[in-house]
Amino acid sequence: TTFPKQFPDDFLWGGATAANQVEGAWNVDGKGLTTAEVVRKTTDRKHMSMDDVDKESIQAALADKSAADYPKRRGVDFYHHYKEDIKLFAEMGFKVYRFSIAWSRIFPNGDDAQPNEAGLAFYEKVIDELAKYDIKPLVTLSHYEMPIALTLRQNGWLSRDTIKAFNHFTETVFKRFKGKVPYWLTFNEINTGTWGFHATGVLDSHETRAKQLQMRYQALHHQFVASAIATKQLREIDPKAKMGCMLARMQTYPGTPNPVDVRAAQLEDDKNLFFTDVQARGEYPEYMNRYFAENKIEIKMAADDEAILAKYPVDFISFSYYMTTVTKADEGEQVNGNMATGGRNPYLQESDWGWQIDPIGLRVTLDEMWDRYRKPLFVVENGLGAVDQLTSDGKVHDDYRIDYLRQHIQQMKEATEDGVQLMGYTMWGPIDLISFSTSEMSKRYGFIYVDQDDQGKGSLDRIKKDSFYWYKKVIASNGEDL
Ligand code: BG6
Repeated sequence: TTFPKQFPDDFLWGGATAANQVEGAWNVDGKGLTTAEVVRKTTDRKHMSMDDVDKESIQAALADKSAADYPKRRGVDFYHHYKEDIKLFAEMGFKVYRFSIAWSRIFPNGDDAQPNEAGLAFYEKVIDELAKYDIKPLVTLSHYEMPIALTLRQNGWLSRDTIKAFNHFTETVFKRFKGKVPYWLTFNEINTGTWGFHATGVLDSHETRAKQLQMRYQALHHQFVASAIATKQLREIDPKAKMGCMLARMQTYPGTPNPVDVRAAQLEDDKNLFFTDVQARGEYPEYMNRYFAENKIEIKMAADDEAILAKYPVDFISFSYYMTTVTKADEGEQVNGNMATGGRNPYLQESDWGWQIDPIGLRVTLDEMWDRYRKPLFVVENGLGAVDQLTSDGKVHDDYRIDYLRQHIQQMKEATEDGVQLMGYTMWGPIDLISFSTSEMSKRYGFIYVDQDDQGKGSLDRIKKDSFYWYKKVIASNGEDL
């Protein structure tokens, strides 16, 4: 047995974005409106702006034809800047670029009979541009958006009909991009479908908590099935390409050594890993069936759902990693951050948005997940959202971001040495983009600064931050020069 001390030679270094956070061009070339584009921005950093969406707010959004209050309509105009942006990614030495395809560019209403050629042509140009620099595409099929028509007509993923519409979309893009996309992901952070609208397009903000859970797990079951069908399609259409699932990994620690806290943390962790259990092992785990029974959640399945889940598990497991939490049997002090819903860990620092920064937790989770699944792992999101200052001579000195990334990459290296099979690392937001949870522009993740403010004003110029030069060095040395 050998213990590799380095990242493998074919390690996939790169960055990750999502259509609705970078593209803009929300109403051109035949594109339909998406669920992400009816979410208003918020200035409350402890809040998630999509929590308030309901029928009335959607009607108001449909009547509003501007992007002013809906920043995901403008993104950072990647739609018109993709050549310049990809050139910058190439300059850093990217081996892979993770992006998502907006379903509504291809099928504006979700279930149109014919695809929109202009939408397919756009992604084809992006993929061909990447090929010029030998950057491999890693494509997410559903990243926190769907055609709004499907929400209005059938309450998004709550309807079983959405499976068929989605798989028509997946079949269309697999056929069109056959041989050009080696890695695909079905649903971004699939587990966050238990939080609400953004991931499933289900309108339930006025329901009781019990009813919400019932609706959300049912919608998620439909996503599991659609994901397995997509995997089947990919195997038939483009057998060399690999399919992955994608989890927002939320490792949690017991608040104390008290066994009741240890058990509470185990259950929390299981509820997170439930999603990869289904998608990688191909069946609902027993512990979750018990949880459903105890919470009176009933999942309606069609006759061959279980068979299709069992037959088409994913090839690899990808996840995002930003933070860890602490769990106690009786809750204790909670972190007051958006998305971070668990308990506070006194040993960790927090970002300005209350996300508890924990590089060692990345090694812990990589080691545990490798042990649990024995399938290749891919860290497809990790990064630091921060307020950056552009100096008068056009520089951004973001040493805090370099520190954050360095420490996480060091821990990935440790995990590799522990024997974990790690395919790659796509840092989140290589170019500044619109925040998912608040729709702010000023929560920046990038190696590349974009001159645009929260009101959408600015030249959209791209400016290299200090971290740009640092990441270039990291990639050139295959993670040795940190
Ligand atoms: C992940 C999402 O949850 O975290 C991304 O997949 C998102 O879409 C990222 O942007 C960071 O979250 P935020 O709210 O800081 O943009």
